[in-house]
Amino acid sequence: MATEAAFARWAQRVEASLDAALPNPDLAPQRLHAAMRHAALGGGKRMRPLLVYAAGTLTGADEAVLDAPATAVELIHAYSLVHDDLPAMDDDALRRGQPTVHVAFDEATAILAGDALQTLAFEVLAASQAGAVLRVAWLQTLARASGVAGMCGGQALDIDATGQRQSVEALQQMHALKTGALIRASVRLGALAGGVDEETLQRLDAFAEALGLAFQVRDDILDVEASSEVLGKTAGKDAAQDKSTYPALLGMDGAKAKLDQLAARMRELLGPFGTAASPLTALGELAVQRSH
Ligand code: IPE
Ligand code: IPE
Ligand code: MG
Ligand code: MG
Ligand code: MG
Repeated sequence: MATEAAFARWAQRVEASLDAALPNPDLAPQRLHAAMRHAALGGGKRMRPLLVYAAGTLTGADEAVLDAPATAVELIHAYSLVHDDLPAMDDDALRRGQPTVHVAFDEATAILAGDALQTLAFEVLAASQAGAVLRVAWLQTLARASGVAGMCGGQALDIDATGQRQSVEALQQMHALKTGALIRASVRLGALAGGVDEETLQRLDAFAEALGLAFQVRDDILDVEASSEVLGKTAGKDAAQDKSTYPALLGMDGAKAKLDQLAARMRELLGPFGTAASPLTALGELAVQRSH
């Protein structure tokens, strides 16, 4: 119950902070501003911001300090979805129950909206009230997780692997980068604000690594088992595009066994924190059990 109340409060905080950070839709260039707001507001589970708040408050940070990293990581995530949906990438028409940005607007606007959401994320971090040392650590963490060593690199591997059969190790590495990196960064951004010792940081990082992989394995399972209506995005896309996924490589049973393994690993890693880690525990369970 306390956890649910915290999630509701954190979701509200990040919604308000996103709204304040995004450009005014009445000002020019209005089409770009509207596209950025379409991509970032009013939808999404806000899993990454919730992880920032959960890891941050666990390690003693004030919620107000966490608004900037929570907002920044969601802006990067929103940009990654806009570009992931482009015709040159997954070519998707539905996202969060709405037409994707290139469908609702046009392709050039979608490319620019993604670009501008990305740079806005770093502006939000740089302009936050936190001390300079923390801000630089945040900037480095988010930049690394977004670029070639993280999400972008993973998306490139995803494209290379499409239509190919790869090893389980290569598949895991692809998932760790394309989805895991931003999830790991979310936990780290929160923990850096709390000021943790190295051992705690390592433990939280190992938890986030398991959660990130679980999140994408679940995404691949849902793509097979759920409907477009429930998902708010097109179901069955991975098979239709011959994507490299856990169910494709290991079968549905193998993919679900992997999820069970990751859930056990997360529980083991959070055990020493006791009930203080309840929000992180709940987010780990959400990654494994989510229905959309
Ligand atoms: C979808 O992410 C893309 C992946 C990395 C699997 P989410 O499932 O977090 O999407 P939203 O933000 O809730 O729409
Ligand atoms: C997306 O993976 C990962 C990103 C970096 C956006 P997917 O292509 O499986 O995400 P969905 O299923 O379109 O949300
Ligand atoms: Mg994709
Ligand atoms: Mg996609
Ligand atoms: Mg998917």
